[in-house]
Amino acid sequence: MSSVAPKPEADRPILLTGGTGQVGMALRRLSGEGFQIHAPVRGELDLGDPEAIEAMIASRPWRAVISSGAYTAVDRAETDIETAWAVNARAPAALAVASGRAGIPILHLSTDFVFAGTKASPYLENDPVGPLGVYGASKAAGEMAVASANPRHLILRTAWVFSPDGNNFVKTMLRLAEIRDEVSVVNDQLGCPTSADDIAVVIKSLLTRMEADQPPRGIYNMVNSGEASWHDLAGVVFAQAQAAGRRIPELKAIPTSGYPTPARRPGNSRLDTSRLTRDFGLRLRPWQEAVRDVVSALLAQPATQERS
Ligand SMILES: NC(=O)c1ccc[n+]([C@@H]2O[C@H](COP(=O)([O-])OP(=O)(O)OC[C@H]3O[C@@H](n4cnc5c(N)ncnc54)[C@H](OP(=O)(O)O)[C@@H]3O)[C@@H](O)[C@H]2O)c1
Repeated sequence: MSSVAPKPEADRPILLTGGTGQVGMALRRLSGEGFQIHAPVRGELDLGDPEAIEAMIASRPWRAVISSGAYTAVDRAETDIETAWAVNARAPAALAVASGRAGIPILHLSTDFVFAGTKASPYLENDPVGPLGVYGASKAAGEMAVASANPRHLILRTAWVFSPDGNNFVKTMLRLAEIRDEVSVVNDQLGCPTSADDIAVVIKSLLTRMEADQPPRGIYNMVNSGEASWHDLAGVVFAQAQAAGRRIPELKAIPTSGYPTPARRPGNSRLDTSRLTRDFGLRLRPWQEAVRDVVSALLAQPATQERS
């Protein structure tokens, strides 16, 4: 009887959820030898269907699960509560149970919106959560489910994500710059703008480290260095656009009360990343550098793509 040697783990594909999202697209750009990403689209794997999740993980030997799929429409979640909980809480739970059963690691993306935003300094991983809305509450529940169902887990809290893909604040500002003479942006919410491409590079590096003998586990903050208000972020976007010869609007600062939204946002959701640096030697570059890269990429695109 001939025996087949087990496949080395690194040759196995990684199951990625949310592959059409900002972080998912960035991860797929890194896919290649030694980091093979398999990202079923919604029609192949609906995160609202826990049985389909279980069947997908049982269908072949995976190297790991990267759980990036989420219901990210923060305001819509306030009324679409059931869907938000299904995708943000029950889907990660099912992914963690099935990956735990398969004995493979899970890297799960979470958010600064698990916090209430009342702390005066940047949040540490073990600060108590206090979500202000349905999105944050469902993501906090997802974190707990992942942590309890698979001991080989990393929960990576990120924030204010931007990229050349999907919908994000940087793209919105560039679009408004073309059509408005004046743009008002809130200046009393503080956070950490973060590039999806930088997140993807860190995730790739963390996955290798999780395959070491006694890998760290738990929650890690993972954001670009520095901090900003939305007004600061808009300012850097406009400055970059202006340097590239584009027209820019006048930028005005307004308080959160001047821009009411269905979901409340944390006033301070800055995340302290010293744990990521201490345990893994990883530190993401300043957010301004990452914004410049993304704005340059967007301005280099044909106008129709840029506005999509
Ligand atoms: N965006 C931010 O500012 C931010 C901030 C903090 C943390 N995060 C976290 O970072 C992670 C990645 O965020 P992102 O910005 O890349 O998100 P995104 O661009 O909004 O993408 C969300 C992804 O989830 C998928 N998805 C949603 N519902 C689904 C369902 N029922 N079945 C299958 N797929 C479904 C979407 O697929 P479709 O294309 O089919 O809709 C899409 O691929 C998420 O966990 C998010 O909570 C994001």
